[in-house]
Amino acid sequence: MATGTGKFPRVRPRRMRRDDFSRRLMRETRLTADDLIQPVFVMEGRNRAEAVASMPSIERVTTDLLLKQAEKLLKLGVPAIALFPVVASSKKDNQAREAFNPKGLVPQTVRALKKNFPELGVITDIALDPYTSHGQDGLIDNSGYVLNDATVAVLVKQALSHAAAGADVVAPSDMMDGRIGAIRDALEKAGHIHTRILAYSAKYASNFYGPFRDAVGSAASLGKGSKDSYQMDPANSDEALREVALDLEEGADMVMVKPGMPYLDIVRRVKDKFDVPTFVYQVSGEYAMFMAAAKNGWLDERAGIMESLLCIKRAGADAILTYFAERAAGWLKAGSR
Ligand code: PBG
Repeated sequence: MATGTGKFPRVRPRRMRRDDFSRRLMRETRLTADDLIQPVFVMEGRNRAEAVASMPSIERVTTDLLLKQAEKLLKLGVPAIALFPVVASSKKDNQAREAFNPKGLVPQTVRALKKNFPELGVITDIALDPYTSHGQDGLIDNSGYVLNDATVAVLVKQALSHAAAGADVVAPSDMMDGRIGAIRDALEKAGHIHTRILAYSAKYASNFYGPFRDAVGSAASLGKGSKDSYQMDPANSDEALREVALDLEEGADMVMVKPGMPYLDIVRRVKDKFDVPTFVYQVSGEYAMFMAAAKNGWLDERAGIMESLLCIKRAGADAILTYFAERAAGWLKAGSR
């Protein structure tokens, strides 16, 4: 690897970096609004918004206000939103019955969104944690262990109720075994052949979900409970490939790695091995870190956020769920003029 003869280097990578025109010509990755999905927190009621303390600038909103945000997102070119419900504690029980109520908050919100903005993709979360009195993603036995097959049966009902309401994509985030296949079979049988499944395939038992659990109000229910018996160990990487392979075999249309920035090695391995639509969730804790640093003046908010999203894409993500979607799409739009 001789980079030069005699006195001067022959190869000077800096030549291409010198000017904006050549930097632009050799740029390998570009972020566009097409890459972004906005996660949103929706609650019952009318014309109300509540701040989420650990997620500055993010609010829980009622469906009518969500429609306004949806319109903005559409105008900015964001293709889809992901719905997360804030469920009143009076509607939580140990069977998660509200999870498959066809008149529940999620089906109602899906109907309103699809009626007003049919072109906006609507993704719903399939998991029981917003609906269980104990905050786990599934049903539990007397020892607190999350039961796999009994939970899958409820997840199937939940997915069917969302598909019937018009959800374009159901996204199981629960990490039960066999849930993708069970949901796929049930959707086909019910005639929902166009409903896509975005599988949270490599979802880690991460410490970065704290602010989300505050936002949906599952933190208090969960208490000191852990999700280690179903979400993946952050130490593992081969296991992520196995989870992805299983979900694809069972009929997933898209797979997801979650969280984002600390797990980009997993994203790259998944993308290289499977060549399928691979999504990344830049989670609430990542959002909180950026906002805390920006608020203290320790990071340039816009530049830092845009770099993080670009890097997630460079690692292999085809799309990114990020609480920054609306802001990033706005910056992209302003920048392209
Ligand atoms: C629950 C769910 C979680 C997130 C999305 N769906 C939290 C958890 O698993 O405890 C986290 C998202 C985020 O932190 O932004 N099924």
